[in-house]
Amino acid sequence: MKITVAIDGPAAAGKSTVAKEVAKRLGYTYIDTGAMYRAFTWYCMEKGVDCQNEVACCALIPEVTIKLRPNGIVLCNDIDVTREIREPRVSGNVSYIASYKDIRLFLVDQQRNMAKKHSVIMDGRDIGTYVLPDADVKIFQIASVETRAVRRYDENISKGIECTLEEIENDVRKRDYIDSHRDFAPLRCAADAVTLDTSFMTVEEVVLKVIEIINEKIALKNKDE
Ligand code: DC
Repeated sequence: MKITVAIDGPAAAGKSTVAKEVAKRLGYTYIDTGAMYRAFTWYCMEKGVDCQNEVACCALIPEVTIKLRPNGIVLCNDIDVTREIREPRVSGNVSYIASYKDIRLFLVDQQRNMAKKHSVIMDGRDIGTYVLPDADVKIFQIASVETRAVRRYDENISKGIECTLEEIENDVRKRDYIDSHRDFAPLRCAADAVTLDTSFMTVEEVVLKVIEIINEKIALKNKDE
């Protein structure tokens, strides 16, 4: 049975960690849509284009190809940018890029195509509300700003990316604001999503909860068929 799972939520809520693990255990394809916005941001910066200049950034659309490999490698025009897209300079600009309608339409089109063939678990900000409004399971994963900042800080340090906790917390607050206030497909909880506050949950607890929700949905679908 083909299942689509949407996990949305604010920056650094642990969506990708959970989505990756659930995908591994259930044999689904994991699609990290944030990585696509990050790769586009990296490209603009590489080209020396100001990320706050919408017209100049959107003009780059025809020359950008982004590929997500199953092993987590992110390619932008066949250059491996997996590490670079996690750097604070990219994180600090990605919300501008993600607020541009033409860039969103360009990437959403690819995201929808990826979800056509296989069971997928896709994480982002607008998956349940806009990219896959008919997803079988919708999760809205949240956590306090402080918890999210510590998680992202630890993740960066473990990857050898230099940053301070204060820098990360400011970035998380700024992105929360921009992501939820943009005009087109802003971050919000879908009416039919299950909200999971993970502030006091371990990764394993969240993974098991998401799998439980998916299994309930599969049982319902089986009953209907
Ligand atoms: O999940 P992330 O931190 O890698 O996402 C990077 C940025 O991309 C985030 O600030 C908001 C944006 N984004 C988005 O607008 N829509 C998505 N589906 C995924 C990410």
